[in-house]
Amino acid sequence: MKLLHLTFSPRGENSESTQLSQAIVDQLCNQYSISHITSRDWRLHATSAIDANYATALSSAARSSDEGLSYEGSLEESERLICELEEADMVVIGTPMHNFTVPATLKTWIDLVVRVNRSFTITPSGKVGTLSNKPVYIAIAAGGFFGSEQSRQPDFLTPYLKAILGTIGLHDLRFFSAQGMALDISKVKVQRQKALDRITSIGTEIIESEGT
Ligand SMILES: Cc1cc2nc3c(=O)[nH]c(=O)nc-3n(C[C@H](O)[C@H](O)[C@H](O)COP(=O)(O)O)c2cc1C
Repeated sequence: MKLLHLTFSPRGENSESTQLSQAIVDQLCNQYSISHITSRDWRLHATSAIDANYATALSSAARSSDEGLSYEGSLEESERLICELEEADMVVIGTPMHNFTVPATLKTWIDLVVRVNRSFTITPSGKVGTLSNKPVYIAIAAGGFFGSEQSRQPDFLTPYLKAILGTIGLHDLRFFSAQGMALDISKVKVQRQKALDRITSIGTEIIESEGT
């Protein structure tokens, strides 16, 4: 089985979400026969954005096909990243919450892999994904708390990922979060451990999905 591991924190190895996602990868390696892992650290893409050629291609894609487009720049990168997603049997994403939602790095990746006439098509009944469904494990780190009645901030991150990854055919999302990472260190340790404890259930009969 092939596993794709994507991380989006600017904090590299010190990142809570990267470490949590690595714990998921380790657990999956214990549970399944993983023959290949592709790891992509999106720190390097922090300032990248889609280019004009790509934006133009997608803006007119609803009325024309990809034929005749020059596969360079963002379009070439988009193709490579979509192929990477297609080849994976399972995907692990590590992401911080930034301003109630995904960080800009993850948004850039989304802009590159969610491509009309390629990873989804437009039909009279709506957008339909072309990717085959596969498990996507998502590790989230947040300074505060989200997703419960007591939390004092909105969560645009998990509903957004469900909507946008569902658009390309990825419906099997499994969320794991380390919340309260901005609290004092003793509380952080407790929250971190809670998240890690949930990860140990991966591969057993009961795989819970937060927020569903
Ligand atoms: C630009 C920015 C925006 C943030 N916005 C939020 C937020 O809206 N809600 C929250 O709970 N934490 C927020 N945080 C805190 C991070 O989510 C928290 O520090 C998390 O642990 C970072 O994960 P990482 O270590 O994987 O980068 C923000 C941090 C940054 C840098």
